[in-house]
Amino acid sequence: MRIFVTGSKGQLGRDSLDVFASLAEVAGLDLPDLDIADAGAVERTLSAFKPDAVINAAAYTQVDRAETDREAARRANADGPRVLAEYVERHGGLLVHVSTDYVFDGRRPPPRPYVETDPTGPASVYGRTKLEGEEAVRRATERHLILRTAWLYGASSRGFLRAILGRAVSNPGAPLRVVNDQFGSPTWSWRLARQIRKALEGGARGLYHAAGEGACTWFDFAAEFLRLLNVPARVEPCPATEYPRPAPRPRNSVLENARLKAEGLQVMRPWAEDLAEFARLHGERWLREAREAKA
Ligand SMILES: NC(=O)c1ccc[n+]([C@@H]2O[C@H](COP(=O)([O-])OP(=O)(O)OC[C@H]3O[C@@H](n4cnc5c(N)ncnc54)[C@H](OP(=O)(O)O)[C@@H]3O)[C@@H](O)[C@H]2O)c1
Repeated sequence: MRIFVTGSKGQLGRDSLDVFASLAEVAGLDLPDLDIADAGAVERTLSAFKPDAVINAAAYTQVDRAETDREAARRANADGPRVLAEYVERHGGLLVHVSTDYVFDGRRPPPRPYVETDPTGPASVYGRTKLEGEEAVRRATERHLILRTAWLYGASSRGFLRAILGRAVSNPGAPLRVVNDQFGSPTWSWRLARQIRKALEGGARGLYHAAGEGACTWFDFAAEFLRLLNVPARVEPCPATEYPRPAPRPRNSVLENARLKAEGLQVMRPWAEDLAEFARLHGERWLREAREAKA
């Protein structure tokens, strides 16, 4: 089996390279070496490698910046997946594409989850371009597996958990106010890579939800992470209105992995269990890095 990973320097890209290394011939590229929206470059690179499956972990993931950087977001999130899907339609193989909980409007009362058959209605440019990507893949080829995930974190994360830890370490006495009225399903990128592997081995095709099991708020997520790392902090709940952002976030984007469960393919775990394992594996390094950044 030959696996090619796009966006190979991102959270999921790195973990996909790691998870598939023992199983397959694996290669991967990221910007600037491979832009997935560049059809000529995709054709040359993939034709040389001849993958059985392409895992598309590349995306424009800066949700707020996407509001004003629409063309770049559309290029990575909609044009890129289309180009990759057209490649597998021409040459064979399978495209594993990754999408997001932000395709939903989030108006459902929390914590009732969304399943694969629920109507979409993205509220942000990021969500809209990701939905366009899903649709472009479906239009271009039947040889696809789309996994919608949520609230992703991983060893190379630069996002929410890093920011929370950085603030707690750099200003230990100060109250750390975290949004407590938005609900989602935190997902460890390594577990998601394992889920991709299981889904591939199980012959899955079409659209699946693949997120950490259960639901929490950003406040719960932050407080649990700092507790696991034994970092004393005054974490306080606050409403989302306290942190106005350029891109609207869904109030509830909890995902239910309904199809994975129904088809006996689920390897996702409860979000708090995975966070505990993540903290055990990477917590010490993250803490050291946070303290070095403070010094
Ligand atoms: N992060 C989340 O919370 C989250 C939540 C739900 C779903 N997802 C989805 O999960 C997937 C993986 O996300 P992630 O958090 O692992 O992303 P990530 O860490 O931001 O990595 C994405 C990688 O793709 C690269 N990239 C951007 N545009 C590209 C292009 N046109 N061609 C090739 N590479 C390009 C990025 O490079 P640069 O860094 O140089 O831009 C980056 O290295 C994405 O599809 C994302 O939409 C993420």
